[in-house]
Amino acid sequence: MRLNIRHTAVLLLVLLFAVESLAQQKVPTSQRYQDGKAIYDYACARCHDYGEGGAPIIGDRGSWSLRSSLWEAVLIEHADEGYLGMPASGGDARLSDYDVEVAAEYILERTFPERKSD
Ligand code: HEC
Repeated sequence: MRLNIRHTAVLLLVLLFAVESLAQQKVPTSQRYQDGKAIYDYACARCHDYGEGGAPIIGDRGSWSLRSSLWEAVLIEHADEGYLGMPASGGDARLSDYDVEVAAEYILERTFPERKSD
């Protein structure tokens, strides 16, 4: 097959679509995700990385499975206001509602990437 300019154009178009659909796969790079990661690392990781004090572990689906059937709003409220061993706002009163919310979303995103947020 000889490549003329039309073929090349079509090829480029196909490539473009391929790249675009790849980019549309859920690559969590939104601002909320980045903020969530930063807050998580700063305020939540020390308990949720390894399960300190019985904290459910990030990325470990089993340790989250029985929690509020993963109703995001409930989990976030618990993160905000505290719940049993979980201190309100991760124990840091300087964190805003937004901070706690995006950090909790980050945990859920890392643990259940396929979940639908509510
Ligand atoms: C001092 C340790 C500690 C820190 C810091 C901490 N957590 Fe937790 N977290 C826990 C523990 C322990 C639990 C489990 C509570 C229980 O069920 O007894 C928990 C539970 C949770 C839950 C599930 C609540 C539910 O309804 O089951 C969420 C969501 C959560 N934490 C989010 C966060 C976020 C977001 C941060 C940071 C802003 C954070 N945690 C910081 C200890 C911590």
